[in-house]
Amino acid sequence: MITIKSPREIEIMRRSGKITAKTLARLIEAAKPGVTTRDLDRIADESIRALGGIPTFIGYNGYPSAICTSVNDEVVHGMPGLRTLLDGDLLSIDIGTTLEGYVSDSAVTVAVGRVSETAQRLMRVTQECLMAGIAQMQAGNRLGDIGHAVQQHAEAEGFGVVRALVGHGVGRKMHEDPQVPNYGQAGTGTILRTGLVLAIEPMITEGSWEVETLDDGWTVVTEDGKLAAHFEHTIAITDQGPKILTLRDVYEHPDVANYRPQQEVAA
Ligand code: MF3
Ligand code: CO
Repeated sequence: MITIKSPREIEIMRRSGKITAKTLARLIEAAKPGVTTRDLDRIADESIRALGGIPTFIGYNGYPSAICTSVNDEVVHGMPGLRTLLDGDLLSIDIGTTLEGYVSDSAVTVAVGRVSETAQRLMRVTQECLMAGIAQMQAGNRLGDIGHAVQQHAEAEGFGVVRALVGHGVGRKMHEDPQVPNYGQAGTGTILRTGLVLAIEPMITEGSWEVETLDDGWTVVTEDGKLAAHFEHTIAITDQGPKILTLRDVYEHPDVANYRPQQEVAA
């Protein structure tokens, strides 16, 4: 069942999203060679709580940490631990905040020190895929328009689109209907309407899109051992178009598709 959010609910989600965004910005700064993924988790937990939120991921299906940290061939759901980040690592950080009962969910992939040209291109294209998906979040469009836009861009660049995991509706729960695949056909699926809030999260691979889950029951890795990147935002459809509720900085957006950040979003 798809729930439509009122302007009042979206306002709470925007404040939740601000906590997620501020904390993620701190983590991006902290992700340097020599830091452990557990260090980042501690920073995240402290930051979210200091800003008045609750880390959504802790306790979710028994998940132990405030963030997911996925390195190199790890796609998503890597668990923070004693792993030290090294120069050249590609790190994906996924984070969620609950504020006044409403969840915001966001992720980025960052370079630790200097990374390969391929890694840089994979990061850029994955972020562009996210923005291309967001550009389709217009009332009257269809769900398939989002996945189509994401897939189109990733595959045009020679990259793979992970099928096993998808984006989702978000609100009182982290995972609500509808599921939001990063692949699909334009003009198909549920009609998008004002008040719909989605987490769009392309997971894009350097090689094959096939993934598997490690024995820890969480960490998802590429089957071929090649790199993966993951970007995610929580976005509301408004009468003025899509509003990114987890926006960190108006300047984070490359000029893709016909997406234009709106002043209001940055407020
Ligand atoms: N952000 C992830 C998602 O969108 C959730 C992380 S899984 C958790 O599905 F268990 F760690 F919360
Ligand atoms: Co998500």
